[in-house]
Amino acid sequence: MAKSAIISIGAYVPSKILSNDDLSRMMDTNDEWIRTRTGIQQRHIALPEETTASMSFEAADAALRGAHMSAEDLDWILLCTDTPEMWTPATACFVQECLKATHASAIDLTGGCAGFLQTLELADALARQQKTVMVIGTELLSRSMDWSDRNTAVLFGDGAGAVIVSPSRDAGIQLTHSRTFSDGSQADILQKPYGGTRNPIPPEIVASGGHHRIHMEGKKVFRQAVYRMANAAHQVLQDTNTSPEDIDWVVPHQANQRILDAVAGELHLPTSKVFSHVRHYANTGSASVILALADMILKGLLEPNQRLVSVAFGDGFSWGSALWDVTSLPPAEFLGRDM
Ligand code: ACO
Repeated sequence: MAKSAIISIGAYVPSKILSNDDLSRMMDTNDEWIRTRTGIQQRHIALPEETTASMSFEAADAALRGAHMSAEDLDWILLCTDTPEMWTPATACFVQECLKATHASAIDLTGGCAGFLQTLELADALARQQKTVMVIGTELLSRSMDWSDRNTAVLFGDGAGAVIVSPSRDAGIQLTHSRTFSDGSQADILQKPYGGTRNPIPPEIVASGGHHRIHMEGKKVFRQAVYRMANAAHQVLQDTNTSPEDIDWVVPHQANQRILDAVAGELHLPTSKVFSHVRHYANTGSASVILALADMILKGLLEPNQRLVSVAFGDGFSWGSALWDVTSLPPAEFLGRDM
């Protein structure tokens, strides 16, 4: 069956940086605690005039520029986010309008940190039907963060990534195989419970700003993230008769350094094979794998004939892994990137 490939990558992070020391002036935390527990040193935070759609547009526009494509060439825009522009319409429609992607159908998917890999699996199916698909992973988490909750506020950052997926022409990063999973029975371990139909926001919670609060049982999330990401990677390797030694790089969701190191251990791979830039950008949810991929290309870490395994885990729970083969390096632009 014909393969599909990532043929161009765009990424965007806001120019404003919030360091651990900045956070320690806002809440009861400190640089040492955050670094040792997570590896995070700073995160990029949206400016007041920025929104999920505006960040997504920057990334999508960069991906189109790299591919020398017009927005009119797009058949689909699939946008994954936990932090949409508004309840309705879909954030993807705002991006479609900004890009003037007049032939594209645009829809959002809510998928959290594993959302990009899940959305990519759908894009692959569309691309195999000769459709050209823009996949966007984007989060503006800082605007819905409870800045008094030190358990979660230190973990996240803002950013957007976009990839163009098209029928393979023996170029780009081939999407060789992918397995994604969900287990809604564990939804209560990581959720933002207020604001939907189950828990409309009571006035006292609005007054306290409490509806922004993410409920997270950190240790349980940690254990599940390591176990699920490693299992999904093993599954993908087994399905494709690939041994871990054949893998040049693991491109993981950038949750935190301790999770990445533990996943490397589970896969019996050296930590040097598991790409990390979490210290710069923190956890950018569904954007994070795209930001990592763009950064790896710009750092010169990728080259043709390499095999990559991506892994991700997030709320839902949803998780997955994908095997990618680098046929040729796709163009990558990363606006706001830290050098
Ligand atoms: N600064 C200082 N102290 C803090 C902070 C902070 N920012 N946050 C929590 N603490 C305190 C807690 O209040 C607690 O204090 P207590 O024992 O007096 O109650 C204590 O630190 C907890 O410390 P540890 O038990 O050592 O924390 P742990 O080692 O479990 O690390 C962490 C916490 C970093 C959240 C870890 O559990 C983790 O990484 N979990 C995964 C979370 C995650 O990645 N979520 C993102 C979404 S899902 C995903 O992307 C995979």
